[in-house]
Amino acid sequence: MFQHVEFYPGDPILGLMDKFKEDTRSNKVNLGVGVYYDEAGRLPVLNCVKAVETQMANPPQPRPYLPMDGLPGYRLACQHLLFGADNEAVKAQRIATIASLGGSGALRVGAEFIRHWFPKAKVYVSNPTWGNHISIFEGAGFEVGKYPYYDPATIGVKFAEMTDFLKGLNEGDVVLLHPCCHNPTGVDLSPAQWDEVLTIIQDKKLMPFMDIAYQGFGEDMDADAYAIRQAVARGLSVFVSNSFSKNLSMYGERVGGLSVVCPSAEEAKLVQGQLKFTVRKLYSSPPSHGGHVVDRVMNDDALFTQWVGEVYEMRDRIRAMRQKLQDALSAKVPGRDFSYFTKQRGMFSFTGLNPAQVERLQTEFGVYMVNNGRMCVAGLNNQNIDYVANAMAEVLK
Ligand code: LMR
Repeated sequence: MFQHVEFYPGDPILGLMDKFKEDTRSNKVNLGVGVYYDEAGRLPVLNCVKAVETQMANPPQPRPYLPMDGLPGYRLACQHLLFGADNEAVKAQRIATIASLGGSGALRVGAEFIRHWFPKAKVYVSNPTWGNHISIFEGAGFEVGKYPYYDPATIGVKFAEMTDFLKGLNEGDVVLLHPCCHNPTGVDLSPAQWDEVLTIIQDKKLMPFMDIAYQGFGEDMDADAYAIRQAVARGLSVFVSNSFSKNLSMYGERVGGLSVVCPSAEEAKLVQGQLKFTVRKLYSSPPSHGGHVVDRVMNDDALFTQWVGEVYEMRDRIRAMRQKLQDALSAKVPGRDFSYFTKQRGMFSFTGLNPAQVERLQTEFGVYMVNNGRMCVAGLNNQNIDYVANAMAEVLK
């Protein structure tokens, strides 16, 4: 009966986690999946999360279904974080927001919505992008194209090519953008470049879909949302998917959000209704535990401040590792410029290693990264960084 079912070779990112687990070498290093590990190599439970979970366990609470679109406090918290609490669009209630199953779930619900209500739209993602962006939009029935983005020659953005390409798109086409900490390259647009891109989006009447999974890991909570807030300030209708997986270290709880900024409160109500219907058809309602944790952390001033501090500690540790790796490699491989490590932002660095070099790192040294050369810098610590630098220097020779 199932002979025609095609073999699934596994996910290039999540599949690496299984391979890593099976590796018996004690000096193995996981720089594959985009997960933050602390200096001791552990997945942290943030103190603000611990505090809330302790409250929630005493006494344990009943678990009714949550509303299809999540807890009201959760939804408002997403809006405040993404757009700013004083944002005119937030106050005018012209943003539809739902809680989602992580950032992936937000992308899928957004994709379903757009496919239904804007069936002629095509979707364009950066070249390269997170592989699941393509799978999610193709899975929702879209044709997915790529706009020029990363330039290996400069380890920067092919900005002129990118803007020329965007100018050639058709009205209503969807442009998927990474407001900060571009995945997989770590190479972001400057505020001036964002302004230029947004002008094109506005002139050509394109539909921006901004996926922000690393808010707080780039500059800070506000600066990382620059592109989103500027889009709203220009009166654009914009889709925003956000994730709390990384910045709350709650990967497995599937906590994220989808927001759609609309021209008016009436339209936001219509969109909110259809997003709820989409959720109902796909999985009915979001998970309760993570929803309550987010709601409580984000809506308590002291816990919120504690949380932001904890995010910045993670950000600063990643920055320190970038600097150390850059220094170590510069010493080991003279004549090669490694300054890109400290120019790139967020969890990822596009190392420039080719698939054969990535393969050697894995087989000879037990150092795991994605085969496109993406390294998760957050997997480095003071114990493994010299080993990784030596291994990289070896494969670069
Ligand atoms: C990543 O890019 O490694 C993360 O976003 C995890 C994932 O789901 O791929």
